[in-house]
Amino acid sequence: MSAFDPAVFSSNSSFDFDHLTIGGVSATELVAEFGTPLFVVDEADFLARAAAWKNALETAFGDRAGTVYYAAKAFISKEIARWVNRAGIGLDVCTGGELAVAQAVEFSPTRIEMHGNNKSEAEITLAIEFGVNSIVVDSFNEIERVGRIAEQLGKRQRVLIRVTPGVEAHTHEFISTAHEDVKFGFSLASGAAWAAILEISQCASLELVGLHSHIGSQIFNSEGFAAAARKLIGLLSRYRNYFSRELPELDLGGGYGIAYVPGEVTLDPHKVLKELAAVVQDECTTAKLAIPKISIEPGRAIVGPTTTTLYTVGTTKEVELDGGLTRRYIAVDGGMSDNIRPALYGAEYLAIIANRLPLGPNCNSRIVGKHCESGDILIREIQLSESTQAGDLIAIPATGAYGRSMASNYNHLPRPAVVAVIDGKARLIVRRESIADLLALEL
Ligand code: LLP
Repeated sequence: MSAFDPAVFSSNSSFDFDHLTIGGVSATELVAEFGTPLFVVDEADFLARAAAWKNALETAFGDRAGTVYYAAKAFISKEIARWVNRAGIGLDVCTGGELAVAQAVEFSPTRIEMHGNNKSEAEITLAIEFGVNSIVVDSFNEIERVGRIAEQLGKRQRVLIRVTPGVEAHTHEFISTAHEDVKFGFSLASGAAWAAILEISQCASLELVGLHSHIGSQIFNSEGFAAAARKLIGLLSRYRNYFSRELPELDLGGGYGIAYVPGEVTLDPHKVLKELAAVVQDECTTAKLAIPKISIEPGRAIVGPTTTTLYTVGTTKEVELDGGLTRRYIAVDGGMSDNIRPALYGAEYLAIIANRLPLGPNCNSRIVGKHCESGDILIREIQLSESTQAGDLIAIPATGAYGRSMASNYNHLPRPAVVAVIDGKARLIVRRESIADLLALEL
C-alpha cells in the first residue's frame, strides 16, 4: 500500500488533505520554484537527529563520551557542514574532496577525523596541514606514508587503527565491511592489527590514540556492534599488557539502520547506545581497563530520514504479465542517476503521490527512471493509485543518505538540486547541475 507514513517521512512532513508538505512548504510549491527531480531536506529534522545522537552518546557514556562524527559520505555540502558544526558534532571525511567542503566552511579541524582505505599523499598532506584531529590508518603502506608526511611537516599525527574484527553484519554484502575478506582495515584474526600497533609504536611522528571499527551499514541488530566492541576491547587489553599503558580512544563507526518502507523502524539512538555502553562497561571491567572515550560515526541515521525526493511522472504504460496480470510502469524524470541504491543493493523505498489525493483503486506498479537501462528501477513493486498519470508528483522519502552523494551523470543527466526547508521557507543549498556544467568539462 502506498500512503503517507510518518515513520518513513522526515519529522516535519505531513499529508495535508490533498498534498504533501515538508517543513511547512507544499511539494507543489517546491516543484514550481525548483523543478524536479528535487532533493528536499528537512533542516530542523537534520539538526534534531544530530542532537539526538550527541545527546544519546553523552547520556550512555557520560564523561567517557567521545565525539559523534557525522559520516560525510552519506551526504555533504557546505550548508550541511554548517549544520553539523551548529549541532556541535564532528565530521568524518574520507577524501580530500570531503575535507575541502569542511575547509570551505572553516569547520574546526579538531573535530574532523580522516578515513579512507587508499588516501593519496596529497590527501594525507592536506589533512595533516589542516590539523585534523585524527587519521584512521588502513594499511601498512599508509602507516609509512602518514608517518613520513607528518615527519616532513614537523608534526606528530594522532592516528587510530582501523581493525577488521571479523564480525558478520546482517546487511547487504556490499555494505558489510568487517568480515575478514574485505579491503578495509587490519584483520584481527590474522595478527595484522597487532603488527600495525607494533609498527606505529616505532614511528616517532605518529601517536597511536586508539582503535576503530565499522562493521557495515543499515544494521538493525545491535549484537554486531556489541561483538565488534568486545573484540576491540580484547585488543586494547592486549595493548595494555604489552605496553603497560592504555589506549585512550575507541571509535565504533556508524551503520545504524533507518526505516525506508512502512513496517521498518529507525533505530533509537538512546536505546542502541545504552546497550552498547553496557557491553563496553562490562568488557572493560572484566579486562580491568579504564573505559576509553567512545566515538561513533553515524551518517545515514542523521541525514537519511531527513530527505524526500520529488519527481514528475512523465509516462505510464501497462505491461501484460504471465497469468493475465498487468503491471503499470510509471516513469519519472530521474532514476538510477539520483538513486542507485535499488539497482546496487536491491534497496526498497516507499512512494506516494504528492500533489493530490490518490483516487480509485490501487494497481500493481513499478516506478522506473528515464535511463536507457531496464535495471533503472526505483521501486520494483508498489501498489499505487490507478489514477497516477503524467504530470503527477511522486515523493520518495528517506533518500537523504547515499542518494545525492552517489548521484551520477549517466546519460548526461544533470544532477538534481538540493533544497532545505524549515518553518515554511525553502532555500536552495545545492543548485541543479546544468548541461552547460557538463559541457564545461570538455576540451
Ligand atoms: N564510518 C565508516 C568508516 C564508514 O565506512 C561508513 C560508511 C560510515 C561510518 C557511515 O555509515 P552509515 O552510518 O551511514 O551507515 N552506499 C551504501 C552505504 C555505504 C557505507 C559506507 N561506509 C548505501 O547506500 O547503503
